[in-house]
Amino acid sequence: MTEKLLSLKNEVRTALAKVGSVHEVNEIKAHYLGKKSPLQGILAKMKDADIEEKKILGKSINEFKNFVEEELSLRLDQIAALEIKKQLKSERVDVTLPGKKFSLGYKHPLTKVTEEIEDIFIGMGYEIAEGPEVESDYFNFELLNLPKGHPAREMQDSFYIDNNYLLRTHTSPVQARTMKLAKGKPVKIICPGKVYRRDNDDATHSHQFMQIEGLVVDKDITMADLKGTLTLLMKNMFGDNLEIRFRPSFFPFTEPSVEVDVTCFKCGGEGCPLCKGSGWIEVLGAGMVHPNVLEMSGYDPNLYQGFAFGLGIERITMLRYGIDDIRYFYLDDPRFLRQF
Ligand code: DAH
Repeated sequence: MTEKLLSLKNEVRTALAKVGSVHEVNEIKAHYLGKKSPLQGILAKMKDADIEEKKILGKSINEFKNFVEEELSLRLDQIAALEIKKQLKSERVDVTLPGKKFSLGYKHPLTKVTEEIEDIFIGMGYEIAEGPEVESDYFNFELLNLPKGHPAREMQDSFYIDNNYLLRTHTSPVQARTMKLAKGKPVKIICPGKVYRRDNDDATHSHQFMQIEGLVVDKDITMADLKGTLTLLMKNMFGDNLEIRFRPSFFPFTEPSVEVDVTCFKCGGEGCPLCKGSGWIEVLGAGMVHPNVLEMSGYDPNLYQGFAFGLGIERITMLRYGIDDIRYFYLDDPRFLRQF
């Protein structure tokens, strides 16, 4: 019997040397220690042995069992080590491979031009003001000298939330908001932001667009301040050589009111399709703040004067870069956007 165990040991060793997985090792375990193992045969025969023999055999069997357990666990360790090695090899990161490229975004041209204009005004000591896009009739019209029924309201139809609230048609309500907050103190602000009109979209109109409002209120403010400021702005935006022209116009919130034209930078004033042959291009509306507007927002018009202006950012950007359709700004097409 002891010889039999000895040969079984050899068998176990050879079998283990041939296998390479946990599953196979377990099969060997079942085969040599399980219910149908040759060991059971030996155990069955032990019944007939005498006490001495039983002792010796029992010891050999225990020793055999320990031997098999040890061999199994040794082999399992080896297999685990091999698995890790294999895994490390298959999951190795090749640091020399080229990396993934992310494409960089671009500032939207409207953002670029807005920031440029902000910089020019911040350089002159202005502050940036803000106002809500959902605005009350009171601020959008009433406080700007546009009472209910005023014919000039017709030019600025909008999207109404209810009878009192609408999407603001211009950034001008920020004038009244800022003056009311300043409580009679001097004001020097610009306000960039989105505005809305009930317009049909085409190459030059959009139901949503952007404006920059400007407002200066102080003592001894004259039309000369307005002209100097806007001339500086235009020269900064379009170059030193351009001429600037102030044309009488009408806005209910300014008196006098002007529209500002610059020499057509395409033809230099000769007349071309861009300027429709006139040699001039209209860029913004402006004027001296109407006494009613000053008064409604808490200023004594006999002591304080102001000038104001409003320009369309899309229009300035289109002129600046020669863009012929306003809708390009809103399509988010990278082929358009990456040009700026
Ligand atoms: N709010 C006017 C518009 O949207 C533009 C404008 C004109 C603003 C004259 C002003 C101004 O501040 O003085 O058509």
